[in-house]
Parts: sequence; structure tokens; C-alpha cells
Amino acid sequence: MAHPMIAPSILSADFARLADEAAAVAGSDWLHVDVMDAHFVPNLTLGLPVVQSLLKATDIPLDCHLMIDNPGRWAPPYAEAGAHNVTFHAEATDDPIAVARDIRAAGAKAGLSVKPGTPIEPYLEILKEFDTLLVMSVEPGFGGQSFMPEVLSKAAAVRKLVDSGELTLLVEIDGGINVDTVEAAAEAGVDCFVAGSAVYGAADPAAAVRGLRAQAAA
Ligand code: DX5
Ligand code: ZN
Repeated sequence: MAHPMIAPSILSADFARLADEAAAVAGSDWLHVDVMDAHFVPNLTLGLPVVQSLLKATDIPLDCHLMIDNPGRWAPPYAEAGAHNVTFHAEATDDPIAVARDIRAAGAKAGLSVKPGTPIEPYLEILKEFDTLLVMSVEPGFGGQSFMPEVLSKAAAVRKLVDSGELTLLVEIDGGINVDTVEAAAEAGVDCFVAGSAVYGAADPAAAVRGLRAQAAA
């Protein structure tokens, strides 16, 4: 992969020092922001006000990953606020096309995310409505879990469609990405790698970003 993208996840950062934590990963391609509602996933994190503040505190494009119910109601405001990507879960809505169109109309890139157990085949037809596919490689909800290699076949299937020109979108992976797993994901054709604990758990987060990028490019 010529230009792998790295998106540090602030889920593993210090929430009381988010501006500093964003500055600590300067040079990252995106900053990954996990929004959880304690309904779609069994955890609660942050919402629109925090994203609005973060937008003022960093120049890194925000990659908002909404692990929430009813994205049709809640996703467009993140786009209106200025998020670069607004990604929601396929499992959370009956009308993913409408949500994607609303996100794009509000000025952001639209992303579709699938949990590890969700097959990609039913969604291949609608991926043309999206700018990114976020393949979850852990069950969404918590950082620090182990990578699930079995999801890589989904990334590879979509990579094939991108390479053959049938689709234009970025393939992103989220969960358990670290120095031991990033290469396998890169080989499957992933463009963008989310990493929480591997970046913010490191003594030098910026160096960890550079290390992951170099390994993904190898
Ligand atoms: C989990 C989140 C991830 C999380 C990844 O539900 O979507 O973005 O922060 O954390 P690590 O990289 O530690 O697995
Ligand atoms: Zn995430």
C-alpha cells in the first residue's frame, strides 16, 4: 500500500485533555472519534458538543464513528458541524442510503460500518453511496480488544471492487490494530487504519503513528 492512512482513536486518550491529545498525534491523517450511546453498544462516550469543541481545537480531519441507534436522526448534525467523515452502522438503520445522502448533503463524507458478524454481501450494491467502508475487527464498544482476522475477507472483497473500478471508496479497519496486526490488514487491501490503544498507550503517540504507517506500507 503506497499511502496508508492512520486514524488514532481518541477513545484511548485522556478525555480531560483532548486538545493536547489531538496535538500529540499531529501528522495523523484523521482523528477517529467514537460516539457511543449505551444502546447500540454497551458503552457511553461523547456526543456532538465534544465534537464541536474538538473541531476548534485541531486541524486533523475528524473521522466520527457513530455507534448509535437512529443514525438518521443523529448523524447529519455531525456533518453540519464540520466532521470530515460521518460513519454509522449498517445494523442501526433500515435505510442506510437515506442516511448517507443526508450526510453528504450536509457536507461530509459518508461511511458505512459493519460489525464483525455482519456480512458485506447485502451491502455491496449500496456502497456506491458511501465514501468509506469501516470494517470492525472487534465487537464495537471498547478499546483494547483483540483483532479478529476473520473480518479481513470483507476488506479484501471490497478492495477487489475498488481495484476493478466498480467502486470508489476507502476501506478502513477498526479494532485491535497494532504492530502485530497492521500488516495483515494492509495485505487485505485496507487504506485506513484506526488505532486507539496502540497509539495512546505508547510513550510517544506520534512515533507510534509513524511506525504503524511504515509497517502498513511495507
Ligand atoms: C471500538 C472503537 C474503536 C476503538 C479501537 O468500538 O470503535 O475505534 O477505539 O481501539 P483499539 O485500537 O484499542 O482496538
Ligand atoms: Zn471506532
